[in-house]
Amino acid sequence: MSNFQGKTIIITGAAMGLGLATAKELATKGANLVLVDYNQESLTKAEQEIATQFPAIRLLTVMADVSEEAAVQHYVDETVKAFGRIDGFYNNAGIDGTQASVVDYDLAIFKKIIDINLMGVYYGLRHVLPVMQQQQYGRIVNVASVAGLRAVVNYTPYVASKHAVVGMTKSTALEYGRYGIMTNAVAPGAILTHLTSEGFKQLNPADPEKAQADFTRNNPTKRLGLPEEVAKVVCFLLSDEASYVNGQTIAVDGGESSIYGNI
Ligand SMILES: NC(=O)c1ccc[n+]([C@@H]2O[C@H](COP(=O)([O-])OP(=O)(O)OC[C@H]3O[C@@H](n4cnc5c(N)ncnc54)[C@H](O)[C@@H]3O)[C@@H](O)[C@H]2O)c1
Repeated sequence: MSNFQGKTIIITGAAMGLGLATAKELATKGANLVLVDYNQESLTKAEQEIATQFPAIRLLTVMADVSEEAAVQHYVDETVKAFGRIDGFYNNAGIDGTQASVVDYDLAIFKKIIDINLMGVYYGLRHVLPVMQQQQYGRIVNVASVAGLRAVVNYTPYVASKHAVVGMTKSTALEYGRYGIMTNAVAPGAILTHLTSEGFKQLNPADPEKAQADFTRNNPTKRLGLPEEVAKVVCFLLSDEASYVNGQTIAVDGGESSIYGNI
């Protein structure tokens, strides 16, 4: 796989989970990284961890809430100021909210999910694309979910937001492919991160391990995924090699989204 020496990649939601795993994978390949997150404490921890493990790479951290357009403009400006360009953009920050039926869903939480998962991804595209267009080069990976391809019970706003990410990925691909910008998405299944373990606690507060076991049973691989397994796919899509892959949503889910009926 290509090396990322001299390339600058922005990662949102970089302090934990899928974002952090991808940051480490890109660091092993020599990329300069811009780590964006709204959790200052976790972001500082991630920065220290990466700086210690990969002392040769250039690292910038920017605290930003991706649901605020001014904060998104700020992380883009800081990146251009520090590195002069943006080669890759991992548009990853997201939340899954709480679980409730369509009619009972808490409106404030619904709006928050849309603000972060849909508008946050959109603001990222809105401010990164002009920089990439000027360069006539770019790789964008938006983070959808299997919930962007299928429905999940009691997750209406999450499902809606992730379907929107798949749609925005296609729209961007159509409009910006001519500028050498490839825009794709990944659709992770259940991957072992903080977000998933919190979800299992909500599904079965008395026995979250049972909720996890139920999920595992329904996956063809009979296990959950690891953040590193998503990171490998993201790195390919961010690389020069992915020069004719555009507008795709790649499931990284052990085959879960292919199931029809019981297994
Ligand atoms: N873990 C999974 O199984 C799974 C499956 C499908 C999709 N996803 C998606 O992958 C992405 C990352 O999930 P994860 O599992 O790594 O979650 P996580 O909770 O482990 O990490 C998410 C990170 O994003 C940050 N973040 C959240 N909202 C933010 C905001 N408004 N501004 C800036 N930073 C913000 C958090 O502080 C955290 O560091 C999300 O978009 C999620 O929907 C995850």
